[in-house]
Amino acid sequence: MRAVDIITKKRHGEALTKEEINFFIEGFVNGSIPDYQASALLMAICCNGMDSWEIVDLTLAMANSGKTVDLSPIKGVKVDKHSTGGVGDTTTLITAPLAAACGVPVAKMAGRGLGHTGGTIDKLESIPGFRTDLSMEEFIQSVETVGLAVAGQSKDLVPADKMLYELRDVTGTVDSIPLIASSIMSKKIASGSDAIVLDVKTGSGAFMQSVNDSFLLADAMVKIGVRAGRKVMAVITDMDQPLGTAVGNALEVREAIEVLKNKQHGPLRDLSIYLAAHMLVTAEACGSLEEALNKVKDALETGEALKKLGDMIENQGGDRAVLDDYSLLPSAEHIIPVKAEREGYISSIDTYKVGLSSQLIGAGRSKKEDNIDAAVGLVMYKRLGDQVQKGDILAEFHVNDLNKFDEASKIFMEAIQIRSARSKLRPLVLGLVTKHGIQKFGAVSDMEG
Ligand code: URA
Ligand code: CA
Repeated sequence: MRAVDIITKKRHGEALTKEEINFFIEGFVNGSIPDYQASALLMAICCNGMDSWEIVDLTLAMANSGKTVDLSPIKGVKVDKHSTGGVGDTTTLITAPLAAACGVPVAKMAGRGLGHTGGTIDKLESIPGFRTDLSMEEFIQSVETVGLAVAGQSKDLVPADKMLYELRDVTGTVDSIPLIASSIMSKKIASGSDAIVLDVKTGSGAFMQSVNDSFLLADAMVKIGVRAGRKVMAVITDMDQPLGTAVGNALEVREAIEVLKNKQHGPLRDLSIYLAAHMLVTAEACGSLEEALNKVKDALETGEALKKLGDMIENQGGDRAVLDDYSLLPSAEHIIPVKAEREGYISSIDTYKVGLSSQLIGAGRSKKEDNIDAAVGLVMYKRLGDQVQKGDILAEFHVNDLNKFDEASKIFMEAIQIRSARSKLRPLVLGLVTKHGIQKFGAVSDMEG
């Protein structure tokens, strides 16, 4: 077999065999196939796509390119939840303790921020002392004793994804359904959970901007999970605006704690409850979504889930006192309001740009080597559809390096459109994909009234 023939075949739009895919992935990881050939294949996949069998074969070849995690020592159905990436999307810090408080073990390997999106590991590391680099023994022991653990993905897991992702990032081949689906699912399969709930984001702050593509991505990922023998489902959710109010690492940790204290309502709380309930159903801990929703709400309202988060923080070396004393979290030197320049209604939010503005003041990385500043970010005071007067505060920026503020606030202001007329809002959850198929929810909801 020759790499060049495989590239040519895909360039002609033909389907690759399992043997060809395995040959290519193995060769790329062991160094016998160079970057330029892998880049050419990635571009051919981007342009011509893959059928669902090829996507499964690619995912399994990637999942088996390194070590895999065996969670079988832990009793029960282990559940994981994964977001395809968003802005102000702090659901993991809420759903993991919620599900664990309901008795379902959560063994989550999480990532760092990617591009304009935030990552759970960066957020957790803003808690003083918190360790995300657990050994496999520590990870398993944590889930056994506390009921949950959130750790960074160990380096020997799915080397093929790490290598392919670096190429994709610089060859314009990120936003491809087969490549995103195989990238995410290879890591989910290798990290060993029995049940997986996927939160597929759609809209201006997501990798998939169109609803249709988001359903296709969700469907591809669910098919992979089913063929790999996992219990899996996906929820398609809105990312046309940040989910929570906070964007930035320590700010998001604080907001997650406020939700778990039952002090903050709104879409972040609503979606976290909904996802946690699907975690219980997917793990077969509840027979119906209704039963699961009640259980999860109970865990939130009684403070059980907050206690679980505290247990996890303590178990992973962090200072549990942060739950009651936010001054233990890093905080920025300057808090600068950004104000509306006209009156009207918030009609659109370019969520990519909101994420970018937070990244620019140091909450995310522009290059792989960049250090992030856990303290910085922004808090939004307005959401889509809100009425504003000229001079109303749209957001507060938490800034350490004032030199970076001008550009960031300029991009933020470009992201927020204010119009005279109210526009329609779509629902937070747009549909579900399960092994039984696709279910799309009611189209557009009128926000008036
Ligand atoms: N997240 C991933 O892990 N991989 C992708 O390709 C996109 C988002
Ligand atoms: Ca993420």
